Amino acid sequence: MDERKLLQLASDARNNSYSPYSKFRVGAALLTKSGKVFTGCNVENATYGATCCAERTAVYKAVSEGEKEFEAIAVRGDNDGFTFPCGICRQVIAEFSPSIKVILGDGNGNIKICSLDDLLPHAFYKEDLYNKGGS
Ligand code: THU
Repeated sequence: MDERKLLQLASDARNNSYSPYSKFRVGAALLTKSGKVFTGCNVENATYGATCCAERTAVYKAVSEGEKEFEAIAVRGDNDGFTFPCGICRQVIAEFSPSIKVILGDGNGNIKICSLDDLLPHAFYKEDLYNKGGS
């Protein structure tokens, strides 16, 4: 799927954002290697800490439907700039697809494409759990 199409789906997903506290709507669209798209929006909570970002909503929707290999994720926030995935979302994406393409769109139609390695160098992976090195 073309990058602009995926970004459009991310933009559309913002409409379902539940963000009464920040009033900052975010949408994400996650393309699986099998060609399916799972969208997500941010879902806030009165405790603030229980808030789930748009990217994680999309990833958890996909994983709960049996999809764990991802090609690309598009993200669109609520301002004119690019909205980069937060640190927690970067780590969650890395768990499944370290080679995913991250597609960001701003309010002027510009697109920025990043690798996860750009965004989260030296991520912690499951292999690290078994590489304890002698202790
Ligand atoms: N948020 C996302 O959904 N994704 C991001 O990449 C950055 C932040 C949400 C969390 C919260 O609901 C609101 O944006 C303000 O932080």
